[in-house]
Amino acid sequence: MAAAAGLALLALLAAAGAERSRKVSMEYNPGWNSSSVNLLHVRAVGPEDSLHYVWSSIGAPSVLLVATRSPNSALRVNWTQLLSPSPAGAIWIDPPDSVLYSTAVVFTKLFEFSEAKPSEELFYPTYDLSEFSWDSLNHTLNHTALTAELRGVPATDPGGAFANGSLAFRVTAYESSGRAVPLPSLQHTPGSSQLQFIVAGVAPRGSGSRFRLQLATLEPPGAARHLRARSSIDDEYTPSVFQVLSLQAEPPNSSSPLSFLQWKAAAYGSPSPRREDGIGCRAGGLHVASGTPPGTPPVLRAFFGDSLATSTASVLNVTFGGEEGHVYQERRYLSWSVLLGFGEPPRDTFSPLVISITAVALGTPLAMLLLGSCLLLLAQRRRYSEYEPIN
Ligand SMILES: *[C@@H]1O[C@H](CO)[C@@H](O)[C@H](O)[C@H]1NC(C)=O
Ligand SMILES: *[C@@H]1O[C@H](CO)[C@@H](O)[C@H](O)[C@H]1NC(C)=O
Ligand SMILES: *[C@@H]1O[C@H](CO)[C@@H](O)[C@H](O)[C@H]1NC(C)=O
Repeated sequence: MAAAAGLALLALLAAAGAERSRKVSMEYNPGWNSSSVNLLHVRAVGPEDSLHYVWSSIGAPSVLLVATRSPNSALRVNWTQLLSPSPAGAIWIDPPDSVLYSTAVVFTKLFEFSEAKPSEELFYPTYDLSEFSWDSLNHTLNHTALTAELRGVPATDPGGAFANGSLAFRVTAYESSGRAVPLPSLQHTPGSSQLQFIVAGVAPRGSGSRFRLQLATLEPPGAARHLRARSSIDDEYTPSVFQVLSLQAEPPNSSSPLSFLQWKAAAYGSPSPRREDGIGCRAGGLHVASGTPPGTPPVLRAFFGDSLATSTASVLNVTFGGEEGHVYQERRYLSWSVLLGFGEPPRDTFSPLVISITAVALGTPLAMLLLGSCLLLLAQRRRYSEYEPIN
């Protein structure tokens, strides 16, 4: 009975969670025959719309997200203009009136600090990600797995901290719903993309150094980013991490998101993470400013042009490592995963294990109740049958 109830629930949940898949393709530097710069176009086509992601290291690493109402909308790049000092207008979507919504995320800085005294942070010189030199992403592109990786080191590294190390942004695009296998096993939806931020082999500049990644989002007029936190129930998939954070773009007077970044409050100190490799991660407050933030990458100036002046920038810091600051010191590896997408972020559904446990937990009293009433009925019948002959 428990199994049947579990299956019924599972079917119900599966039906509720069914989403149309998308056809996803990746293209490197479309229309440009050089690998001196990196621009990755990820196109996710649905039956009635398409999503465009433009990942780039022209300037600080960034991603532009454009939602269009046409399955045939195309990305156009005027490369001469994009690589010129005035890139505004060099990137657009054809037809332009198919664009429904656009937003962008820029990974601006990596801070490193150690705790000199309790509650006193000692900062080392900041790594400005717009001053990194990035390898060609072309040879990391996997059109089947829909993955690509941007890897870079500071253009100048006087201290030699990057002698054996690098930063990487690993992108995975998804055609359908599911869940990534490695921890934190983030859920994804069709057309969403996961970004893994990796610090590998970089020598820490202090004992117990911690890292803090700064990112900024750009929103069109009206929409605003909000940081939302909620509790997670899927302990089975991300053991002991119970907080899901989501940086959502929301229209005024509404909390149904236009786009999102979603992550679990955990980073990991291993390329094949286990629960014990967990490194706590916490988000600072959101700092909102209007107008073009300094350091806006050329790719974003190319797409947004003059409308940047009226957009809203939100800046967020994500800090890795609390008391367990020594984890990076020992492992020299840090990986943080975040999902990006349009619309609603995926939500936990009950896992099959949780469902069976619930079904058993609910089913046992029910079964006992039923068994009880059966016995009662039998007893009554017997009483009646005993009674009848006398009657
Ligand atoms: C690209 O931009 C340059 C500089 O603005 C312009 O001269 C050229 O005509 C553009 N090319 C196309 C194909 O639009
Ligand atoms: C880089 O690796 C070499 C060889 O393993 C080691 O001797 C050197 O100290 C390392 N440098 C840094 C900055 O970690
Ligand atoms: C992010 O952290 C840096 C370094 O601690 C700090 O200077 C900056 O004000 C922080 N920004 C936000 C938005 O919290």
